[in-house]
Amino acid sequence: MYELDLTLQIGQAIREYPNANWVDALSRGQLESKDWLIQKLRLHAADLGVIGILGCWYGLLPAMIEYNKNWFKIKMYLGYDLDNESLNVAKIINPDHHKFICFNMDVNDANFHSMDTIINTSCEHMSDDWFHKIPEGKLVVLQSNNFFDCEGHVNCVKNEDEFVEKYPLKRVLHYDTLELQKYDRFILIGTT
Ligand SMILES: C[S@@+](CC[C@H](N)C(=O)[O-])C[C@H]1O[C@@H](n2cnc3c(N)ncnc32)[C@H](O)[C@@H]1O
Repeated sequence: MYELDLTLQIGQAIREYPNANWVDALSRGQLESKDWLIQKLRLHAADLGVIGILGCWYGLLPAMIEYNKNWFKIKMYLGYDLDNESLNVAKIINPDHHKFICFNMDVNDANFHSMDTIINTSCEHMSDDWFHKIPEGKLVVLQSNNFFDCEGHVNCVKNEDEFVEKYPLKRVLHYDTLELQKYDRFILIGTT
């Protein structure tokens, strides 16, 4: 489904960063979860404006959204991650450096005012402090999971109900569960 340019970009990133965690990043669960996010998001929003991607990792999500850009109106992507090497990979996978800009910083220090849409598919990897700094009126798209036994997962949730409670939104547009082989992934879309 995601062929040609994106495959070439991923191929180049693998050649330049062979020791990155490709087994996890390109696993069926990770890719299905991102594709699921895009399919759900297009049902609820079209104009995404400036998209902040928190815990951006290797930048596969912005690349996959960009691949489906005909469904959305997008100004640019701002990627945030604590790990600079991950962002170097993300820059290869998202080669339009006018449209994809990344910041090697803690999401808690991000300027949410500059974003229209805030996406965090790494909620399980961090505390929820950042969430409470988002100003009113932003579109928010979150994913987490119940894979408590995975290293680095410091903030998993048991189920979709706990997820919705943990990240209170002014208007909930959608929440759901995707059952994967080893764990469940949860999605929450709404506005602050
Ligand atoms: C393993 S990855 C992402 C997994 C997730 N399921 C996904 O594909 O979106 C989690 C990322 O969050 C980043 N991260 C964790 N805490 C962070 C923070 N406070 N600020 C910025 N990035 C953070 C890590 O550096 C890592 O690249």
